[in-house]
Amino acid sequence: MPAMQDLPGLADPPPTTAVRLADLDERRDQAVTRAEERALGKQHAKGKLTARERIDRLLDPGSFVEIDMFVRHRNADFGMDRDRPYGDGVITGHGLVDGRRVCVFAHDFTTLGGSMGEAFGGKVLKIMDLALKIGCPIVGINDSGGARIQEGVVSLAYYAELGRRNVDASGVIPQISMIMGPCAGGSVYSPALTDFTVMSDRTSYMYVTGPEVVAAVTGERTTHDDLGGPALNSEVSGNAHYVGVDEDDSIAYVQALLGYLPANNLDPAPAYAYEPEPGLTAADIALDSVIPDEVNRVYDMFDVLRRVVDDGELLEIQGAFARNIVCALARVEGRTVGVVANQPMVQSGAIDIDASEKAARFVRFCDAFNIPILTFADVPGYLPGLEQERGGIIRRGAKLIYAYAEATVPKVTVVIRKAYGGGYAVMGSKHLGADVNLAWPTAEIAVTGATGAVHVLHRKVLAATAEGERPALERHLIAEYQEKFSNPYVAAQYGYVDEVIRPAQTRAKVAEAFAILRDKRVAGLEKKHGNIPL
Ligand code: HXC
Repeated sequence: MPAMQDLPGLADPPPTTAVRLADLDERRDQAVTRAEERALGKQHAKGKLTARERIDRLLDPGSFVEIDMFVRHRNADFGMDRDRPYGDGVITGHGLVDGRRVCVFAHDFTTLGGSMGEAFGGKVLKIMDLALKIGCPIVGINDSGGARIQEGVVSLAYYAELGRRNVDASGVIPQISMIMGPCAGGSVYSPALTDFTVMSDRTSYMYVTGPEVVAAVTGERTTHDDLGGPALNSEVSGNAHYVGVDEDDSIAYVQALLGYLPANNLDPAPAYAYEPEPGLTAADIALDSVIPDEVNRVYDMFDVLRRVVDDGELLEIQGAFARNIVCALARVEGRTVGVVANQPMVQSGAIDIDASEKAARFVRFCDAFNIPILTFADVPGYLPGLEQERGGIIRRGAKLIYAYAEATVPKVTVVIRKAYGGGYAVMGSKHLGADVNLAWPTAEIAVTGATGAVHVLHRKVLAATAEGERPALERHLIAEYQEKFSNPYVAAQYGYVDEVIRPAQTRAKVAEAFAILRDKRVAGLEKKHGNIPL
């Protein structure tokens, strides 16, 4: 047995405070500067920013407070020496975006491929718990090889825990995922559970199984991009809500998005001082001539929307997906609204499966975070066809009805042209609980369009009429149908439309309606939860 004074370290005097401070500096330097130096070359070579650069660009300068900088891998196989990387492949903390607090985690791909193990997972859960406790949005910056292979089931457990946190946080705090590199395997499901997913062009991909596994299992030859590139995810599958041309653009989108959102479901969204122009402006008057006189001529719904919302500014959500319906955040007299509008330029604005699901999720997001909904209807109905029926338009088209009916936030709807059949009912009709329903004189609220209706109702008479006289009779019957059914006054007669307004009045009328509805309260029914057709 060696004498006590011979045991290592015991003969040394205890470190002074100066030594301890120097040690802290050394450790911080190791965690931040040296890690960053290692990361820089690798990430920049791939056209990507490092985790810290991403956080720095997202947050207001100097506002980042890092948490768990010194967390390290605890598995003995990885050693306990000082060279083992601090942080364990993820950087977590909080800071400010435009002066408002957000929590953030950013995967560091240069440490074990940004893969999630126990220490990593613990850090991510901890920052999510903090975001939930203090009620602020969480932004997750993904760039990772997924579950850390060496940590087996423990890693899987953390993914499942993360999914549970995402669900707990859903509807309580806004959750935003940024995909800045790989996001593969089961790790795609955490972003899918969040409210918004933003991908960066060229450097990101997101799929459940990569090209090698697909080739082995199905024999299909494909690529990262075909399976999960930004175009596939934003235009075809709809998983991504926005694709930034580069990382800076993705970050700018997230900053703009946060500017519209409340910190949580109990706080109001930020409101800005806005002095509306009094009287009718040139933009207001231009609305009077937006709708073309020719029935089959289309116009761009954005020509309407930009003239109604503050400064003509809209932040589109899922702008590349289901372009037949527009979902966007905007402001009316300084306050956030969610805009849902049919887009006549695409598929005549008919609602298909994708449009129903896109708008339903957006309406539910707005409702959860107390964001009023402004709907513009110009819709010929649900899209007919074999593909749609086979794809489940009944079950999936029902989602939009469910979402509108369930939403208790202030709902204002303007019917501007067609509102036929199921399209009328679903696009924020009075019957689904809209508070204020306005219509332009050009609104055609009816079971179906005039020409189609005349051919159903008067087929026999038309067939029996001499060919030369048929066009005149048809014109007469169409005019009669329009007078009797296809106009806004029948709906107004029943009180389904509160007011028929001149288009130029829309901006003022919409603002007035939301001002009146600001204190709207709705008592919910007692139930555990509904059963939306998923
Ligand atoms: C441990 C990993 C890793 C992982 C990458 N690395 N993924 N380490 N676990 N999952 C390491 C690599 O060994 C390498 O280490 C470094 O990270 C960089 O990886 P590269 O392969 O060189 O990078 P790249 O060529 O860009 O390829 C990226 C990649 C590939 C496509 C992501 O690394 C890959 O296929 N990784 C495995 C993906 C995977 O199967 N993940 C599990 C998914 S299942 P060195 O030391 O060489 O630098 C899942 C379950 C979730 O996530 C469960 C949810 C319920």
